[in-house]
Amino acid sequence: MATSIKIKVNGLTHGVSASLDTPLLYVLHNELHLHGPRFGCGLAQCGACSVLLDGKEIRSCVTPVAAVSGKTITTLEGLPALYASQRGTTVNAPDLHPLQQAWIDVQVPQCGYCQNGMLIQAADLLATTKNPSKDQIKTAMNGHLCRCGTYTAIIEAIQTAAKTMAKGA
Ligand code: FES
Ligand code: FES
Repeated sequence: MATSIKIKVNGLTHGVSASLDTPLLYVLHNELHLHGPRFGCGLAQCGACSVLLDGKEIRSCVTPVAAVSGKTITTLEGLPALYASQRGTTVNAPDLHPLQQAWIDVQVPQCGYCQNGMLIQAADLLATTKNPSKDQIKTAMNGHLCRCGTYTAIIEAIQTAAKTMAKGA
């Protein structure tokens, strides 16, 4: 049975109509038309569907929408505004999160399917670990699968973004 639920996504509160056990991913796609998070395995195994919940990476494919009511969700689309708020500034289009810019500069994506989850996990990592080592990055990214093998480029991009963020850029 559909129920009216309020969820806060990328700084905006939305009223959505969904069953309480509907996966958050479906609500983000079908109600809010946010397509950064991807459907991959649907089993919390690949990371393609990742979003931040109160700043921590979660798998939206297995998270019931009722579990996020009253909490703050950030999707790939909200990373620039999240970074601006962390710096006490405002976002101006076409600003990107330093991770997104580094992904472009290092030319990380190949097919791109996994990259939402990689960026979300990297944002979680850099929020708490300002200058991660290769081993710390590998450990943090361990639960994300890339069938195109972009892992080496991802490490380089995360370290590039960390340097940018350390400069306050
Ligand atoms: S689609 Fe959610 S972890 Fe794979
Ligand atoms: S870039 Fe293709 S799955 Fe990662």
